Amino acid sequence: MTKRIRKAVFPVAGLGTRFLPATKAIPKEMLTVVDRPVIQHVVDEARAAGIEHFIFVTGRGKAVIEDHFDINFELDRTLSERGKTRELEGLRRDLPAAGATSFTRQQAPLGLGHAVWCARDIVGDEPFAVLLPDMLHLGREPCLAGMIRGYEAHGGNLIGVFEVPDSETHQYGIVGVRDEKGAQAITEMVEKPAKGTAPSNLAVSGRYILSPEIFRILETQERGAGGEIQLTDAMITLARSQPFFAHTFAGEIYDTGTKLGFLMANVAYGLRREDVGPSMRVELDKLMGR
Ligand code: UTP
Repeated sequence: MTKRIRKAVFPVAGLGTRFLPATKAIPKEMLTVVDRPVIQHVVDEARAAGIEHFIFVTGRGKAVIEDHFDINFELDRTLSERGKTRELEGLRRDLPAAGATSFTRQQAPLGLGHAVWCARDIVGDEPFAVLLPDMLHLGREPCLAGMIRGYEAHGGNLIGVFEVPDSETHQYGIVGVRDEKGAQAITEMVEKPAKGTAPSNLAVSGRYILSPEIFRILETQERGAGGEIQLTDAMITLARSQPFFAHTFAGEIYDTGTKLGFLMANVAYGLRREDVGPSMRVELDKLMGR
């Protein structure tokens, strides 16, 4: 019998240096894909998967994320006075319930593993999800919902993955897998393998379901690649005593932490929208000279 996944951790304390100067004063998680901040898209994914508590690991200059997930009383009143009920309803729909969010500070950007560890007291002794907000998953089914189904079927820890061309495996965390009663058991995890040495072409997509034992490992985790406390290193240790499974996401993934990924996310999400999609298609055709 598996425990229910109720809580999700969103590490949002990174500096976003690949997206300067945009991220000098604005957190990269607040950049918009169409008209929603990137972080809202990812919180939407978690809500669609039944997550009840949203834990943000923030840092300096990220307070605006906290404001985004709060009621803006003056704005609500103005919208109401002007009869903008559709906008008001939209804001209310997007807002997690009072008490369903927690914010904690990482204090120093020591790495993703350290950011996750900062959520240990709020998560407590139960399995939980981690969603990297800069990785947008666009597909028929929200990625985390599929992962929770997999978790309910076979338990263990899960890592979301997607297929990348062999020529790109050196840019990602890659997992090696073997088939185990229809599930993909992870046999190996390698961070950015040298060209030609990757155990598969399954790249880590920034979605995880982890057991709370990961916190005990992170507690004493040494700094790894880039001088940062790496989540992958702690997962490799945990995999010695607990099973890990890969969940392949069938859809498109956009790394909005990179310039090209961000631009393509806006095109892909925009084209899907009923309001702007059709005109966007016409404008893009014009731009491409057709
Ligand atoms: P990234 O390496 O993609 O984010 O970390 P970054 O450090 O913000 O970006 P660059 O490389 O400088 O452009 C993956 C995720 O982990 C979070 C980031 O916010 C991002 O969501 N993170 C990373 C933390 O919360 N704390 C850290 O110390 C490092």
